[in-house]
Amino acid sequence: MATGAKTKTKWFCTECGNESPKWMGRCPACGAWNTMVEESVATGKKEKQSCVSSGRKPEPLSNIDFSEEQRRSLHNAELDRLLGGGIVEGSLVLIGGEPGIGKSTLSLQIPLSCPELKTLYVTGEESAKQVKLRANRLGGESGGCLIYSETLMENIVEEARRIMPDLMVVDSVQTMFSQYVESSPGSVSQIKECAAMLLRLAKETGIPVILIGHITKEGSIAGPKILEHIVDVVLQFEGDNRGTYRLLRSIKNRFGSTSELAVFEMTGKGLREVSNPSEMLIPMHAEGLSGVAVSAIIDGTRPFLLEVQALVSSAVYGTPQRSATGFDVRRLNMLLAVLEKRAGFKLSMKDVFLNMAGGLKVSEPACDLAVVCAVLSSNFDYAIGQDICFAGEVGLSGEIRPVGQTERRIGEAARLGFKKIYISAYGVSDNVPEGIEVIKVADIASLCRSLFR
Ligand code: TYD
Ligand code: MG
Repeated sequence: MATGAKTKTKWFCTECGNESPKWMGRCPACGAWNTMVEESVATGKKEKQSCVSSGRKPEPLSNIDFSEEQRRSLHNAELDRLLGGGIVEGSLVLIGGEPGIGKSTLSLQIPLSCPELKTLYVTGEESAKQVKLRANRLGGESGGCLIYSETLMENIVEEARRIMPDLMVVDSVQTMFSQYVESSPGSVSQIKECAAMLLRLAKETGIPVILIGHITKEGSIAGPKILEHIVDVVLQFEGDNRGTYRLLRSIKNRFGSTSELAVFEMTGKGLREVSNPSEMLIPMHAEGLSGVAVSAIIDGTRPFLLEVQALVSSAVYGTPQRSATGFDVRRLNMLLAVLEKRAGFKLSMKDVFLNMAGGLKVSEPACDLAVVCAVLSSNFDYAIGQDICFAGEVGLSGEIRPVGQTERRIGEAARLGFKKIYISAYGVSDNVPEGIEVIKVADIASLCRSLFR
């Protein structure tokens, strides 16, 4: 060919980014089915980059000058806590989530609430005017914020090195491209290359970079999954983009703890921090609703109370339906089997629907007890008192097992004005705060005797 660069194609897994010279039904690296896509890759041009000497030499570990990692507060308490106390210099933070959930809003709120920082906001999705329109809506000072509407990575990196901002935001990785990669923006090889370029920029200059990435419900478009290995921190939006609450969870954090959860409320003026999530997760309603039980859970490092809702009704069709939102449906089936086999409740011909309030996804077994109580409450059409909450795991033989950090759960329940908490009889709990009665139950039978008299 006249250009000297030979174009050939390779197959990439859209789940994990693994590359292969030929199509495969199942990715050998991550085991996902039907995820390989074909992309053209340029050969010959690439060496240009890798041959450049960085001028660095290996040095003894003991000689490396050590100072505490430099963190910068983003003036957003929830976000700072999620990052482990502020953003670390030279780190690459990925914010992932479905379209419309609030990634652009959150990332524009950061420079607006930190006017003292020189921020380079690179937008590939919206025009500079649209960003301005959004900024007007969000309010706040935009003193140090530079808007740069560009999608070619080489230009962005060059501009960032020239300006040397205190913080950089790139919205979004799917729109960026490098001229050294042949395939179109949003493809696996482009996403990997763009993220690697930003990582190099962050590490060499110390500029913290916030990168936005979309994910779809089906995970069909190449996205954050591929980037998880490359970036330092992954924050992911969860929950429903139709509701007003948005949950942001840290899935990976090289500089702090993971599974931290931050709660935001989408208002007319952007995302507002919700510092007390229990308030949103136990909605107020009239006394006497059946099928509702409150669970004291710990998500990340914070305890909070969550309303579990269940509906049990006679199956209309032959096979009963079981559906769960925010809870593992296999675990629900297991709990129903335990109720049937160990406590004699006839649920096999009933439809069971389960829902966690606020769009939260719960994976903690401590929620089991509340799930069982919500199901039984709906089944008997007997309302559980509004001042009662639960924390316990249910075992296969119907026993109620203790869960970690029981005291913190009791403390949070007492703080919110609950009068009774049901926990396992096998756990220890000293230092019970004033005003709350701790009821210990050993198995489902004794729970029912105590609760549904
Ligand atoms: P956006 O940040 O554009 O989502 P993403 O970048 O993740 O695709 O958020 C879009 C939604 O947020 C949109 O439906 C409108 C809503 N929104 C508000 O409710 N209030 C606001 O102040 C702003 C800026 C957006
Ligand atoms: Mg956006």
